[in-house]
Amino acid sequence: MDLGLSGRVFVVTGGSSGLGLATARALAAEGARTVISSRDKEKVDRAVAELSRLSPTVGTVADLADPGTPGRLLDLAAEVYGQVDGALVSVGGPPPGTAASADDEQWRAAFESVFLGAVRCARTVAAHLAEGDRGGAIGLVLSSSARSPITGLGISNGLRPGLAMVAKDLADEYGPHGVRVLGLLPGRIATERTAALDRGRPDARERALAGIPMGRYGEPEEFGRVAAFLLSPAASYVTGTSIPVDGGALRTP
Ligand SMILES: NC(=O)c1ccc[n+]([C@@H]2O[C@H](COP(=O)([O-])OP(=O)(O)OC[C@H]3O[C@@H](n4cnc5c(N)ncnc54)[C@H](OP(=O)(O)O)[C@@H]3O)[C@@H](O)[C@H]2O)c1
Repeated sequence: MDLGLSGRVFVVTGGSSGLGLATARALAAEGARTVISSRDKEKVDRAVAELSRLSPTVGTVADLADPGTPGRLLDLAAEVYGQVDGALVSVGGPPPGTAASADDEQWRAAFESVFLGAVRCARTVAAHLAEGDRGGAIGLVLSSSARSPITGLGISNGLRPGLAMVAKDLADEYGPHGVRVLGLLPGRIATERTAALDRGRPDARERALAGIPMGRYGEPEEFGRVAAFLLSPAASYVTGTSIPVDGGALRTP
């Protein structure tokens, strides 16, 4: 099957590592061109060097919490490639802890980057894609917590369900313009974040594995391939929904 990604252009935030980088790799392997961003210049440069071996790639340092970031990313894509066909919006996850134990500052910081940063980026890219009914696709990297709470990740439990509903809302508004918007719900994929969450809690991995029917953590490329498919024209009738990539862990169908 031809995914139809060759020559298309995608913005990938949080694209310097983990699920963002894995998606950028899968897109680049199919001939798509990317603009990747994150906060750390060294990480961005390293990812650009790797991805450029597969397909044209540019990178920039940008914090998703910064209101100017979405516009800057679109301008860069227009300047370098002359077009944009979609975006994957990923960002560092909120800190661990229960909803009750997180203080106002932790809630506020997570809201600014994880929630408002993602909403602002998705709505800015959606409005751009809708101009002239060019169409395209936007994927929000959320979490299985959008459907079922994860013990010890209270802020994620608070913010992700709302983001899944925002994706649905944007899909309603922009569907008539050919713009698809969807959520991706990783369960436990072996990235730096997952390793950090497991570190110092020797039983965390064992307990997580017990709840995954496939009996293992996912590999980043297993997530990246699903995300690249959903962003591609091959998934042209999929929108307004959230797709788990979790080895069967979610207790909802
Ligand atoms: N991995 C999983 O199993 C899993 C499961 C459920 C949900 N998730 C969620 O999926 C998202 C990605 O997770 P991951 O595992 O890929 O994490 P990761 O390996 O830590 O990667 C996060 C990426 O986002 C960038 N980033 C962090 N904060 C940012 C900000 N404010 N603005 C722009 N870029 C930022 C990081 O680079 P810089 O440090 O350079 O900014 C990095 O490139 C997170 O929100 C996480 O909570 C992951």
